[in-house]
Amino acid sequence: MSNTKPWLLLLAIAFVQPAAASDPESAFRGKRLAEVNCADCHAIAQVDESLDPAAPPFRSMAERRDLASLRTEMTGDLFLRHAVMPDFEPDAGQANDIVTYIESIQD
Ligand code: HEC
Repeated sequence: MSNTKPWLLLLAIAFVQPAAASDPESAFRGKRLAEVNCADCHAIAQVDESLDPAAPPFRSMAERRDLASLRTEMTGDLFLRHAVMPDFEPDAGQANDIVTYIESIQD
């Protein structure tokens, strides 16, 4: 073990941690919210299909729009523009959780 390089170990640990470690608890809450409020139309997981073909799958949402602005738009006019207004208006915390979840499943 004389030639073990501690910095190499640190480097390995750094790579095992996801770069921008998103908040897994927030993503989990977001997933639950999406299951209840969005899954009637949108594909909300990694391999499912949208029940409403017009509704973009959440996993490819980043290709379609900027996710950072979705955080704030979700509490604003997004659902007014939205095709069919879901019977749900997220507060800021719920919007954050949903977008954290959406980010966590991007292709
Ligand atoms: C009743 C069906 C339905 C439900 C429920 C639904 N959506 Fe949608 N959504 C659509 C359809 C259809 C589109 C595509 C047409 C459009 O953009 O209006 C869409 C588009 C979107 C977009 C892209 C719009 C944009 O301007 O970028 C986002 C983001 C979105 N939905 C989020 C959600 C979230 C989050 C939920 C759950 C809280 C949800 N939707 C629930 C049908 C639905």
